[in-house]
Amino acid sequence: MAEAERRGVDKGLYIKTYGCQMNVYDSTRMADLLAPLGYRLVDAADDADMVILNTCHIREKAAEKVYSELGRLRARKLDSSRRGERLVLAVGGCVAQAEGAEILRRAPHVDIVFGPQTYHRLPEMVTRALALPADVAGRGVLDTEFPTEEKFDFLPETASPPGIAAILTVQEGCDKFCSFCVVPYTRGAEYSRAAGDILAEARRLVAAGAREITLLGQNVNAYHGTAPDDGKEWGLGQLIRALAEIAGLERIRYTTSHPGDVDEALIAAHRDVPQLMPFLHLPVQSGSDRVLAAMNRRHSVDHYRRLIERFSAARSDMAFSSDFIVGHPGEEEADFAATLALVEAVGYAQAFSFKYSARPGTPAALAPQIPDEVKTERLAVLQELLWAQQRRFNEACRGRMMPVLFDRPGRHPGQLIGRSPYLQSVHVVAAPCHLGALLPVRIVGARQNSIAGVLTGAAAAVAMAAEASA
Ligand code: 5AD
Ligand code: SF4
Repeated sequence: MAEAERRGVDKGLYIKTYGCQMNVYDSTRMADLLAPLGYRLVDAADDADMVILNTCHIREKAAEKVYSELGRLRARKLDSSRRGERLVLAVGGCVAQAEGAEILRRAPHVDIVFGPQTYHRLPEMVTRALALPADVAGRGVLDTEFPTEEKFDFLPETASPPGIAAILTVQEGCDKFCSFCVVPYTRGAEYSRAAGDILAEARRLVAAGAREITLLGQNVNAYHGTAPDDGKEWGLGQLIRALAEIAGLERIRYTTSHPGDVDEALIAAHRDVPQLMPFLHLPVQSGSDRVLAAMNRRHSVDHYRRLIERFSAARSDMAFSSDFIVGHPGEEEADFAATLALVEAVGYAQAFSFKYSARPGTPAALAPQIPDEVKTERLAVLQELLWAQQRRFNEACRGRMMPVLFDRPGRHPGQLIGRSPYLQSVHVVAAPCHLGALLPVRIVGARQNSIAGVLTGAAAAVAMAAEASA
C-alpha cells in the first residue's frame, strides 16, 4: 500500500514548469519525491495544498515574471489561510538559485526556496515549512547550496507514468562558461550520472510504456559517466549503443550538444545505431568567428561546418537544428551577415533564434550593449530565413514515407498526432489503438510548423474501420 494511503492523506500538488526539458524532468522527479508525503499532482493552483514554481532564468525578465506570479499567489495563500488551510508555496529552478534569499525578502509569503541541485531534500524542507506560522513572514526555508552529495543518489525510482516519448537526464551542469549564459552559475559544475543508473532508469521507462527516450543534459555530449562493469568511463556514443540494446526502445534522441564536445564515437553511433534519430540539435549561436570568440564558445565556424559534414557523411538522412543569438555585445553587421551565410550553407530543418539579453552576473552583461532596435531588426531577418528553410524542409517531405510515433490525440476525433524522425508534428487520420504505435506514414501535406500524412496498408484499414464505427 502506498504510504499516502496508509496515512490516509491525499494533498494536491501543482507544479508550474518554466523553460527547458530538464525542468520538465525535474518537475516529475519532485512529484515522485513528494508522493510519499501524500501529495498528488493536480491541474490547477486553486486545487493545490502546495504550489511549486519551477523557474527558468535563461532569458530576460525571468525573475520579474516569477515575482508577479508570486504576487498573484499571495492572494490565493491569504484566501486559504482564512479558510484555516495551509498552502505551501515553493520556488525552485534557476531563478531560485540565482535570487536565493532575495525571494524571501521580496515575497515574504514564500515557504521554500530551493535550487536545481537540492530538490532531493524537498520532503525535509516541506516538513520544516509546515512548522512555520502560516504567514511565513520572510522566514521561509532556503536551500540553494551546491551540495557535495549527489542529488541523483537520493531520488526515488521514477514513479510517474512516462508517456510514450520520455525524457531522461543523463548529465547536468556546464563548465563551458559561454559569455552570455547563466547555466554554469545556476545548474553548477558539469556532472554525469553513472551509466548503470541511466540504463536501469531507461529500462523502467520502457517497461512503463515509453518507446522513445530523449537523453537530456545542458551539455549532453560532454557525458562521461562511470561504466557499469569495469569502472572506466563511457562517452555519449557508448551510452547510446548500450541503450539501443533495450528491447522495446524504438527511438533515442539527445539534447543539447556543444560542438566542442562532439567525438568520433558519437558520429559513429549515428552511423551504426538505427534507433538513434537522424536529427541533431547542435547550437552554433553565431556564424562569425569573432563573435564566437567573444562568446567564449571555444570553436570556430569552420569546425562546426566540418562537424555537420561528418554527421551527414555518417548518415545521409541527417537533418539539423540550432540555436542562434543575435546582438551579442560586439556583433557588427558583417558578423551578422556571416551568421546568415552559415544558415544558408547548412540549411536547417528547424532552429531557435533569440535576441541577446544581458543576464546579471555573466561576462557579456558587462560589455557595451547593442541597441535593441538593431537586435530586433537582425532577429526579424534571421527568423525570416530560418522559417523559409523550415517550410522548405517540410515541403520536401511530401511524398516520402516516414516512420511516425503516435504520442498524442489530435485536435479532431479520429486524428492522432505523432512525431517524425525530425521531430515534426505529423497529423494523421488513425484509430485510437494506434496511440503508442510506430507506423509508416506517407506524407501528403506540409505547413510551417507541421506536416500531414496518411497510413497505408493494414493500419489504414483499421483507421477506416474505426472512423466508420465512430
Ligand atoms: N540571451 C539570449 N539567448 C540566450 N540563450 C542562452 N542565454 C541567452 C541570453 N543571455 C539561448 C542560447 C541557448 C538557448 C538555450 O538559449 O541560444 O543555446
Ligand atoms: Fe550555457 Fe550551453 Fe554555453 Fe554551457 S555550453 S555555458 S549551457 S550555452
